[in-house]
Amino acid sequence: MEFKTIFVLILAVSILAVPQQRPESRLTLPNVLVLDDAGRITLAWEANLQREEITFEIEANTTGYVGFGISPQGSMTGADIFIAGVGNDGQPYFSDRIGVGFTTPKIDDNQDWILLNSSETNGLTYLKFSRLLDTCDDEDYPITMDTNRLIWAMGSSDAIEYHTSERRGARSISLLGAPTPDINLDQMMYWDMTVDMAMPAQSTIYWCSFHKGPILDYKHHIVAFDAVLDNEMALTHTHHYILYNCYVPAGSNSTADEVFGNYTVDVGHNGNECYGPGSSQIPNQYCKEYLFVWAKGGKMMVFPENVGYPISEGSDAGIHQYYMLEIHYDNVDELSGPSFKTGTRVYYTDNLRPIDAGLMTIGHQVDVSLTVPPNTQDYVVVGHCSPTCTLLLPLAGVTIFNALLHSHLAGRVLRLRHFRGNIELPWIDNEEHYDFDYQQNKHLSTEVRILPGDQITYECTYDSTWKNGSIVSGGMTTIDEMCESFIWYYPKNSFDHCISHTEIRSHMSDFGVTGYRRETSSGIPKYVITAPESLVGDYDDSISFKFNWTSEFQAEYTQKRQFGGHQAFCISEKTGQSITVPNQRYPDNLVEYVPYDRCAKKKNVRAQA
Ligand SMILES: *[C@@H]1O[C@H](CO)[C@@H](O)[C@H](O)[C@H]1NC(C)=O
Ligand SMILES: *[C@@H]1O[C@H](CO)[C@@H](O)[C@H](O)[C@H]1NC(C)=O
Ligand SMILES: *[C@@H]1O[C@H](CO)[C@@H](O)[C@H](O)[C@H]1NC(C)=O
Ligand SMILES: *[C@@H]1O[C@H](CO)[C@@H](O)[C@H](O)[C@H]1NC(C)=O
Ligand SMILES: *[C@@H]1O[C@H](CO)[C@@H](O)[C@H](O)[C@H]1NC(C)=O
Ligand SMILES: *[C@@H]1O[C@H](CO)[C@@H](O)[C@H](O)[C@H]1NC(C)=O
Repeated sequence: MEFKTIFVLILAVSILAVPQQRPESRLTLPNVLVLDDAGRITLAWEANLQREEITFEIEANTTGYVGFGISPQGSMTGADIFIAGVGNDGQPYFSDRIGVGFTTPKIDDNQDWILLNSSETNGLTYLKFSRLLDTCDDEDYPITMDTNRLIWAMGSSDAIEYHTSERRGARSISLLGAPTPDINLDQMMYWDMTVDMAMPAQSTIYWCSFHKGPILDYKHHIVAFDAVLDNEMALTHTHHYILYNCYVPAGSNSTADEVFGNYTVDVGHNGNECYGPGSSQIPNQYCKEYLFVWAKGGKMMVFPENVGYPISEGSDAGIHQYYMLEIHYDNVDELSGPSFKTGTRVYYTDNLRPIDAGLMTIGHQVDVSLTVPPNTQDYVVVGHCSPTCTLLLPLAGVTIFNALLHSHLAGRVLRLRHFRGNIELPWIDNEEHYDFDYQQNKHLSTEVRILPGDQITYECTYDSTWKNGSIVSGGMTTIDEMCESFIWYYPKNSFDHCISHTEIRSHMSDFGVTGYRRETSSGIPKYVITAPESLVGDYDDSISFKFNWTSEFQAEYTQKRQFGGHQAFCISEKTGQSITVPNQRYPDNLVEYVPYDRCAKKKNVRAQA
C-alpha cells in the first residue's frame, strides 16, 4: 500500500519552507525559532553573507524590555547582549551591552547593534535589529558557522536592572547553518520509529528502545530523516535523541531477528534505560553507529539530490534491519504520568539515486586510553584517520556532505582537521562552543573532497574540572567521554570506522600498572588494576585518587597522547575486516591552517590609534 504512494505525484510546497509562526505574528524573516517552551518569545533571522550582516526580529509577550544575546558558554558572563523595547512614552530605546556576571550588563564602548523598527501592541513587543557578523569589537561576539548559544530575557518593566522581575532562558542554534537541500517528501515512502509511553519520573533519563526497519525485497535509498513529536508534551520533554544502526556482532552465529527481535517496540517492548542497571536488560552494546540526531531547534536531515543511503541491498534484502533510539527525556519537575509519542521518521524511495552515501566514524577509539587528567581544562584528545586507510578510497576520492561532531558532557571545542601531505586544508567542520544538548547532523556549506592518502584528524578539547578530582575516561555513558565524529559522504566505501588509540598495555604501563584485567560482564568493558599493590582496584578510581598526578607526569602524558604515535585502524563494522596501522601521528613539518580573520587589520588600526 505504502509502496504506491511513490507514484502519486502531488505538487506540494516542502514543509520546510513554512515557518512555524502564529498567524497574527509580525515576523517576516525566513528562519524562525521559538526561544522558550511556552512560546512567549520568538526569534526570526536572516543573514546576508555578502554584506557580512545579520538581521533579527523578536516578538515577545511583554511590555517591558527584551534582552537578546549570544553567549560563549550559555551564561551571562562574557555574553554579547542587545537590550531594547518601547518605553511608556512610546519611544523606542536600545543598547549594545556585555554581560559581566551577576549584575546589569555593561554598555559597550562601541554600539554595533542597531534597532531598525519596533512596536508595542496588545501586550506584545516587536523588535527588528541588525549587526555585522563580526563587528571586530572585543565586546561583541563574532557570529560564525558553528553553534551559537542564544540567551534571552523579558523584563516586567522597561527599567533595565539586574534582578528586576524577569523571565530568562537559553537555547542553541546554528544561525548561519547551510540550508537544508530541497526535497519533495510527497514522493517518498516513510516509516516511523517512535516510543509512546509514560516518561519515567526522573529529572534526566536516557531511554533506549529498539525498532525494525521495513522488509524490502530489493535495494532502496534513505533520503531524509525527520523528528516525530506528537504534541506540546513531546516538544517540551524531548531534550534530544540519537538514532543508531544495530549490527549483529561480527563472528556471531545469531541472526539480527534473534539478537534484537524480542526487544522491539513492534512486539510491545518499550526498551529500558540506556546506562543504568536496566541497561543490562537490552542489547544496546551492538548499536553504536549514529544515523540521525535531533535536538531542540534541530532541522531535518535531507540528502543531496544525487545520493541516498542504501538499505536492503544484497544479503540485507528481505530481512529486517534494526535500529535503536536513545531518547533523553527532560523532566525537571520529575512528573509522573505524562505519556506521549516521540521518535523519528525515515523517508525512503526505490527511485534509486545515482550514488550511494556512506557513513564513517572518525575519531578516537572509545576505551581507557582516552583518559582526561583530573582538574584540567583544555586537554586535547586526537583520533587519526590514517593515510594508509584513505589510500583504500577510489582514485577520485570521496565527498563529505554532512558531519556530526560528537563528544559528551566534558567536550568544549571540536575540530575535524584535514591534511594533504604536510599541508593542512580548511577544517572540514568545527564547534568552538560545543553544546552537548544541541548536537546536529550538519549540512556542510561547502562539500569537502577527500583524496586517497589524505589524513583526517578529529580533535576534542575537554574540561574535567567539574568532576571534582576524578579523571574522565573513555566510555559510552555521558559522564565518560567519546571523541568521535560521524561523517556522511559519497560514494560509499567498504570501511566505516577510521580511528586510532594508544594501545591499552602501553597506556597502562605509563601509569606504572603492571597487572590488569578487562571485565565485560556489563556489556561495556571495565578495567580492574591488579598490580602494583598501590594501584589495585577499579581503573577510574585508582587512576583518579591513588595515582599521583604530578605536574611533570601530566605534562609528559598530555604531550605523548596528543603528539605521540597511535595505533590506527580502518574497520568494517559489518564484515569485521580491519587494517591496523602502527605509529600514526600528525604529518611531519605540518603547515597549519589559519582561519581568515576579517578583523585582524581593523584591530591593528585600533590598537595603533
Ligand atoms: C501573553 O501572556 C498572557 C499571560 O500568559 C496571556 O494571557 C496572553 O494571551 C498572551 N498574549 C499573546 C498575544 O500571546
Ligand atoms: C516598521 O514597521 C511598520 C509596520 O510593520 C512598517 O509600516 C514600517 O515601514 C517599518 N519601518 C521600517 C523603517 O522598516
Ligand atoms: C558458531 O558456530 C560454530 C559452529 O557451530 C562454533 O564453532 C562457534 O563457536 C560459534 N560461534 C559463536 C560466537 O557462537
Ligand atoms: C524470544 O521470545 C520467545 C518467546 O518468549 C522465546 O521463545 C525465544 O527464545 C526468545 N528469543 C531470544 C533470542 O531470546
Ligand atoms: C562536585 O562537588 C560539588 C560540591 O561538593 C557537588 O555539588 C557536585 O555534585 C560534585 N560533582 C561531581 C561530578 O561529583
Ligand atoms: C606526589 O608527588 C610529589 C612530587 O614527587 C610529592 O611531593 C607528593 O608528596 C606526592 N603526593 C602523594 C600524595 O604521594
